[in-house]
Amino acid sequence: MSYHKPVMLAECLEGLNINPKGIYVDVTFGGGGHSTKILEKLDGGRLISFDQDDDAKQQAEKITSSSFTFCQANFRYLKRFLRLNGVTKVNGILADLGVSSHQIDSPERGFSTRFDGPLDMRMDKQAPTTAASVLNEYSEENLHKLFGMYGELKNAKTVARLITQQRVNQPFVRTEDLKATLQTVAPRGKENKYFAQVFQALRIEVNAEMKALEDFLHQCGEVMEQDGRLVVMSYHSLEDRMVKNYINKGKVFGEVEKDFYGNQIKPFEAVNRKPIEASEEEIQENKRARSAKLRIAVKL
Ligand SMILES: C[S@@+](CC[C@H](N)C(=O)[O-])C[C@H]1O[C@@H](n2cnc3c(N)ncnc32)[C@H](O)[C@@H]1O
Repeated sequence: MSYHKPVMLAECLEGLNINPKGIYVDVTFGGGGHSTKILEKLDGGRLISFDQDDDAKQQAEKITSSSFTFCQANFRYLKRFLRLNGVTKVNGILADLGVSSHQIDSPERGFSTRFDGPLDMRMDKQAPTTAASVLNEYSEENLHKLFGMYGELKNAKTVARLITQQRVNQPFVRTEDLKATLQTVAPRGKENKYFAQVFQALRIEVNAEMKALEDFLHQCGEVMEQDGRLVVMSYHSLEDRMVKNYINKGKVFGEVEKDFYGNQIKPFEAVNRKPIEASEEEIQENKRARSAKLRIAVKL
């Protein structure tokens, strides 16, 4: 089975508008689908790819090009790791958010609703928080919040109550424990979609995905050369809203600031007003592409 089928590959490459001598960053290497294509377009340029996952690192080790550098790091430390590699300005940044098919399809990682596995869900296996620790230690109020916000569950409060009651008898250890507990509150006939929402919410919390995205976006303006391209693909409405706000307002939250003359202070301008979505053809071939939203911006 392939590691991960890259989504909107041609659209992302076009969005980056690659200068063969430029410096590019792919902050979500995964199986390297996008990185490999970027490398093919370089001639004298450089690609620095990030991923916090050990398995992605092993994939990256297969690339022998001298134009390529891999950083096993969280992209929220973008600026720091670029500096460590002697880079202060870049010509393009690509982010393909979330988890790879390889991560989801590995039962021992606990990301999938399809197999039994430990309640882990960490992309970075050294990180302290697992899905089990969230379920067993978070307050009912915090569980309610995260299931409502990240999972968009209509009955988030009920779920939070059920989990805190259940864990008194027996702590959550395996994904099957969680699914068994949720059986009674999942809408009949739509259990799988419901479990997917719950798992997604936990994954986002375990990996602090919203905070990482916020920190990352705010560094993009600082490291990007003029006319450089920011290309971000998201799979969750909250992520897409953050990306959209950052591009349009220069901030993930709040309103755009203006200078003394009333000019907007923001590092980027949107290339496409509406997000680009995958073609019907691609969605037929790759279900993952269905929820992808691609935004492209140019540095002012
Ligand atoms: C959707 S996959 C990328 C797939 C890749 N574009 C390809 O074509 O193979 C997302 C990858 O980003 C990594 N990732 C997600 N959030 C990250 C973060 N904050 N820092 C570093 N890596 C992250 C995940 O570990 C995963 O391997």
